[in-house]
Amino acid sequence: MRVDGLVRDFAGRRVLDALQLDIRAGEFVALLGRSGCGKSTLLRVLAGLDREIAGEVLVPRRKAVAFQAPRLMPWLRVWRNVLLGLPGRPRRAVAARALAEVGLGHRADAWPKTLSGGEAQRASLARALVRDPDLLLLDEPFGALDALTRITAQRLVARLWQERGCAVLLVTHDVEEALLLADRVLVMEGGRIAYETAVELPRPRDVTDPRWAELRARLLGRLGVAGDGTGAAPDLPHRAPSAPKTPRYQDTRTDTV
Ligand SMILES: Nc1ncnc2c1ncn2[C@@H]1O[C@H](COP(=O)(O)OP(=O)(O)O)[C@@H](O)[C@H]1O
Ligand SMILES: [Mg+2]
Repeated sequence: MRVDGLVRDFAGRRVLDALQLDIRAGEFVALLGRSGCGKSTLLRVLAGLDREIAGEVLVPRRKAVAFQAPRLMPWLRVWRNVLLGLPGRPRRAVAARALAEVGLGHRADAWPKTLSGGEAQRASLARALVRDPDLLLLDEPFGALDALTRITAQRLVARLWQERGCAVLLVTHDVEEALLLADRVLVMEGGRIAYETAVELPRPRDVTDPRWAELRARLLGRLGVAGDGTGAAPDLPHRAPSAPKTPRYQDTRTDTV
């Protein structure tokens, strides 16, 4: 996936400002940033839901997105929700397989309103999985879950990523969640990726590793939340954006990206 010189304005206000970002096939990237800094705007552009842009966006044709609110249609049973919007006439078995993958096989015939928050979020993940994505876009998918359900959901995403091998871009406001899951953590600020760091810790991640504490402090400092205040100097300087480009949004096969 490649984004270069991406600009998005809302009523004359620049929310994405010459943003540059590359994600390798199969890479797990977490995106942090203050509320309102443009994370969801970026995800919507990557998902192809917003084309009012300038700049270059190259994304895999097969991509899927899951939002914080599961957005299930209340008048459709869970398995029909999973298949909603898929081209052709996909069979129930396709939905059943994805629901089993997220541990929700027994709820295929349920109505959305009878699901718990964690179940609804898993149904939403199943809906993303039936698209067999090369790029999975997750916008604060665990934000509304209670602490224990959240841990289960994080483990599920880690397992799905390992089994599927797709690239993941996870928006989260939780530094520890980012460090638990990602190969690389980005911080968005001023409409750009202002900071990034690789997370070179073995999996599963050990929160007692001194490198964990060091990364956590650095990211919190960078977010202006806490930390030692030395987080301002990026250890991985981000490539300067190139000159403005004519708008181009293109779905590509992963192997040509
Ligand atoms: N459709 C829209 N129309 C006008 N302003 C918008 C729209 N979508 C987002 N914005 C504004 O863009 C900024 C970034 O929003 P968003 O991407 O949702 O932030 P984040 O997800 O990082 O919290 C906010 O100031 C928001 O109000
Ligand atoms: Mg958002």
